[in-house]
Formats: sequence, C-alpha cells, structure tokens
Amino acid sequence: MGTILTGIITATVFLILMGLVLAILLVLAEKKILNYGTCKISINDGNKELEVQGGASLLSLLAEKNIYIPSACGGRGSCAYCKLVVSEGGGQLSPVEEPYLTADEIKAGVRLSCQVKVRNDISIQIPEALFKIKKYRARVEHKKVLTHDILELRFKLLDPQTIDFKAGQYVQLTSETYKGRESVMRAYSISSVPSEKNYIELNVRLVPDGICTTWVFDHMKEGQEVTLSGPYGDFMLSDTSAPMICMAGGSGMAPIHSIVNHMAEMNIQRLCYYFFGAQQQRDLFYLEELRKLERDHEWFTFIPALSAEPESSGWTGFRGLVTEALAEHFDDLTGYEAYLCGSPGMVGACEKELKKFNVEEDKIYYDEFA
Ligand SMILES: Cc1cc2nc3c(=O)[nH]c(=O)nc-3n(C[C@H](O)[C@H](O)[C@H](O)COP(=O)(O)OP(=O)(O)OC[C@H]3O[C@@H](n4cnc5c(N)ncnc54)[C@H](O)[C@@H]3O)c2cc1C
Ligand code: FES
Repeated sequence: MGTILTGIITATVFLILMGLVLAILLVLAEKKILNYGTCKISINDGNKELEVQGGASLLSLLAEKNIYIPSACGGRGSCAYCKLVVSEGGGQLSPVEEPYLTADEIKAGVRLSCQVKVRNDISIQIPEALFKIKKYRARVEHKKVLTHDILELRFKLLDPQTIDFKAGQYVQLTSETYKGRESVMRAYSISSVPSEKNYIELNVRLVPDGICTTWVFDHMKEGQEVTLSGPYGDFMLSDTSAPMICMAGGSGMAPIHSIVNHMAEMNIQRLCYYFFGAQQQRDLFYLEELRKLERDHEWFTFIPALSAEPESSGWTGFRGLVTEALAEHFDDLTGYEAYLCGSPGMVGACEKELKKFNVEEDKIYYDEFA
C-alpha cells in the first residue's frame, strides 16, 4: 500500500515538474526564440503609422508610443475597457476575449487590445478622442485620511502641468514595484473639479491585498513623484436640463463629488438628489461639505443612507440601503437621468430599482469599480 502511494506521489510530482518545465520553455521560446522583428501598426486607414518591436500586446505597444487606450484591469482581460477595432492582422480571437464581445462587435472586428499580440503588421481604428489622453508626471501633495479605509490623494501635475477633463472621468495611476509585487495601472475617478487644472484629487479605498491600493496606503509618500494618464471614460454630466438621481457607495463618491461641485461652480441648477450608501457613520466622508452644498443650493439634496449603523448610535439620518432610501423618497422618476458609481453589485441593484421607477435604460449612466 505504502509503495503504491509513494509511486503515485512520485508520478504526480514528476508530471507537475514536467508541466512547469514545458511552460517555462514555452515562455522562453516566445521571448527569445520567436523574434517577430519590427511590425507596423497602421491607425485609422493609414492616417498614422507606428513601427514597433513585435511580440507584445497591442495595448502596451500603443502605450510605448504614447497612445493610451482605457484599461482598468491592467491588461488582465477582465475589464473590457480596452476594446479597439482591428481590421487586419489581429490573429485569432482568444477565449479570454469572447465573453466580453457581442456578435455585432465580433463581426465588426472589435478586440480587447490587451489580448491581441502584435506578431505581424496590423491595421486598427482608434477613436480620435483617445489621442487626447496624456501621460502625466505628478507629485503627491497630500495623502489625507477620509475614513478607516479611504484616502484622499492630491497630486500636483508637473509635466504636463495642466489637464482638461470632464467631471466624472477617471485617470490611471501607475504603482511602483514593492515587496516583489509588479508595477500595475489602475483606474481612479477624479474627485476634484475640472476648473482646477493643475491638480487632481482621488478617493482611493483600500482593497485587502490589492496591488495598487496596498502601494498607495503603505508605500506612497507625500512629496514623491508618480505617473498618471488620462482623462478616460464617458461617465460624465450630460448636456441636458433633466433632473438627476446620483447614487454612490464608498469611493464611488469621487466622480459624483466632482459632478455636483462642478454644477455648483458653473451654476448648473438641475434638480439633483444624491443618495450615498455606507455601512456606518465611520464610512461617511465629505459629509459637512455636502450638507453645506445642500444648504447653499436649492437644487441639491444629499441623502446619506447607513445600512449597518448600531441602533444606539443616535444617527438620525436614513437607515437602510441606498435603494431603500430611493424608494422612500420616490415612486415615479419619469424624465430623470441617473448617475451611479460603486461596486458592480451596488450599481446593478440601483439600476434595477431606477427602472422600476420608470427611468429609461439609456438615461442611466454608471461607472462600475470592478
Ligand atoms: C472606471 C473605474 C474607476 C474607478 N475609480 C475608483 C476610485 O475612484 N476609487 C477606488 O478606490 N477605486 C476605483 N476603481 C477601482 C480600482 O481601479 C482598482 O480596481 C482597485 O483600487 C483595486 O486595485 P488593486 O490593484 O489594489 O487591487 P488588485 O490587485 O487589482 O486586486 C483586486 C482584488 O482582486 C483580487 N485579484 C487580484 N488579482 C487577481 C486575478 N488575477 N484574478 C482574480 N482576482 C484577482 C485581489 O485579491 C483583490 O481582492 C475604479 C475602477 C474603474 C474601472
Ligand atoms: S485592459 Fe482590461 S480587458 Fe483589456
């Protein structure tokens, strides 16, 4: 019995080792033996041509040439933000891409640029707006504690020194390597207002064991330089006068904070109800500022909702989920636009509730912090 067991263990270990050796050989073959040489990337029907060293992802090769395609997952193939039309030379669609593409997109040649390896000449289409995205060198002006797990980061832009963005958009922050963890790029919504062109503020929530947020919380120092790129995204205030429902949770505060402050600054007097969801009072931030905004502007109402606040705490505001707070205030939202921001779970629940109250699907705008 003992001999059989030893035999099985030895065979299993042998197979695992063989698998590892094969995987390493494949990676080495890809890196060292296969040399794709110089490849041409033709952009927008030949309007622009780039020469790159083949072998890397389309997303990273474009970034090397200062063309920044939105990407929230750092090229892991899980955010689907990096879609581009590849008209020629993109190779086979990979199984990673398929779930993120509709039949129409596949027909039109849409690909996840982080999953397309450039191995030969390739033709792609890039929307003009993406050429405006820039890389910034910035200095950390402050790291301010907002709650037990959310920091406000303020950056001074050094090069270029100004940024043009719309309230609601986001930037990508590049983390540095630390304790053997790789440098990654992650998306963070801008919480400051577009009129402040030399600075950017973010609200970053700590994700346990998250690569970028652990770096921000434990390693990033005030005064140090960092790399940002942006602005990205089409989550922004629409150009209408429709009344608005804003709903956010946690660091989902950031883009809504930018939007409502921008409205106040620009004297945009659209009726706006802001429902902010948190568990307890210790998770609330910008409370006084938003209450002041409410006092100063008739068009603005701020409704914080706490879902797990102890009964004995003396909290006199709403107790329950943001969706419950919404239902307490409204039963018909015909004609409203909605702006949602937070975890996919929260955004999904809010969307469902808003549709029940007759908000049209194409009037519900959201950014999911996936
Ligand atoms: C448009 C947009 C705007 C955003 N704005 C904000 C904002 O304003 N504020 C904010 O705090 N966040 C924001 N986010 C979220 C942010 O981009 C990051 O996703 C978040 O900070 C986590 O990054 P991280 O590197 O710390 O964590 P990661 O290292 O990415 O890990 C996140 C989680 O995934 C797990 N994980 C890690 N690697 C893998 C893997 N390979 N497979 C499966 N699971 C894995 C980790 O264990 C962890 O639980 C935004 C996201 C988007 C898309
Ligand atoms: S960068 Fe996220 S899917 Fe490509």
